[in-house]
Amino acid sequence: MTTMADVARAAGVSVATVSHVLNATRPVLPHTRQAVLDAVDALGYTPNTLARSLVTSRTRSIGLAVSAISNPYFTEILQGVEAAALAAGYSLLIADPHDDPAHERKVVQLLHERRVDGMIVAPSADPHGLIAYLNRHAVPAVFLDRVVQAETEAPERASDLVTGEPALFDQVCAENAGPTARLVGHLAELGHRRIGLVAGLPGLSTTSERIAGYRQALTAAGLPHDEDLVVSGNSESAGAERATAALLSLPSPPTALVTANNAMTIGALRALRGLALSVPDDLALGCFDDFAWADLFSPRLTAIAQPSREIGARAVQVLLDRLAAPDRPARTVRLPCAFVHRTSCGCPEDRDGAHGPLSAESGGQTAPTPLSEKGTVS
Ligand code: HPA
Repeated sequence: MTTMADVARAAGVSVATVSHVLNATRPVLPHTRQAVLDAVDALGYTPNTLARSLVTSRTRSIGLAVSAISNPYFTEILQGVEAAALAAGYSLLIADPHDDPAHERKVVQLLHERRVDGMIVAPSADPHGLIAYLNRHAVPAVFLDRVVQAETEAPERASDLVTGEPALFDQVCAENAGPTARLVGHLAELGHRRIGLVAGLPGLSTTSERIAGYRQALTAAGLPHDEDLVVSGNSESAGAERATAALLSLPSPPTALVTANNAMTIGALRALRGLALSVPDDLALGCFDDFAWADLFSPRLTAIAQPSREIGARAVQVLLDRLAAPDRPARTVRLPCAFVHRTSCGCPEDRDGAHGPLSAESGGQTAPTPLSEKGTVS
């Protein structure tokens, strides 16, 4: 196997110079640098990163543990993480904890044993073991998507679950409450008074924040809170199918529905098809999560689009900042979502196009036609 010494000999320079060229650790004269690169090319030299890691104690790798990587939302996050990591010269080790706390604890240990420089983790609904492990081993980590210190979380999760100290983890996630409120508010403006919510897996901050947004919007619209209208779809399609069917069998079923993630939108649509109900005439639909084929459904899905790639890329940036300055204060980065106004909410075709960040969009939208004016259910 070709070694760095072989390259140095062929280029007529020292091993240290070869190392500086390959690791960009010191400026090297252009013609010397070129001689080294030519020798690397001619000899087919590939650096031994394991040997380098022994010297630097760094592997230039990042561990990524996110559940449900087959879900397009997480796939896009992964793409964002991968692109940003590659651009910074890091490779990725990927694990799927399947939203199972024991599995999560195990994969995080495996990634740590591989000596990744840091980790990006979407914590499960019960992250005790995860947090204990990261703290005990002082693993630089960024939480992604689900936050653990969220304002809306139960108080016992607002601090380090082992030591009682504030849980000092950087976190990157999307806005959840505001965008859900926007979706629910839109349906309320259309005249709906009974709006159902198919919520996600209990214990995830994304679930509780989206429920909080739903309730805020009901209050803002002066609508009563009927707890029968909030059902759990457990963040997955089959759960949402059952939950939607249950909602629609209530003595007084909702006239509009909000699904709290993409997988649950699919489940809800299955339930509606099973009951031969049509959207939006029998039930208006607003979805959290936009996805590539959301505009191919008929009607096209009115949705909240999360900045998934950007969430992934920002998580890498925040982790690199942490590696560069381990003592910097922990921060939570919240990224805005966009309201993608299509027709499943019941608005006519010509109201399409109200895209853009939610914060920038408020007030700029055409007033929707209230249900009563359209002569549909009220
Ligand atoms: N969190 C946030 N958004 C999502 C999820 C999730 O787990 N799944 C699908 N969209």
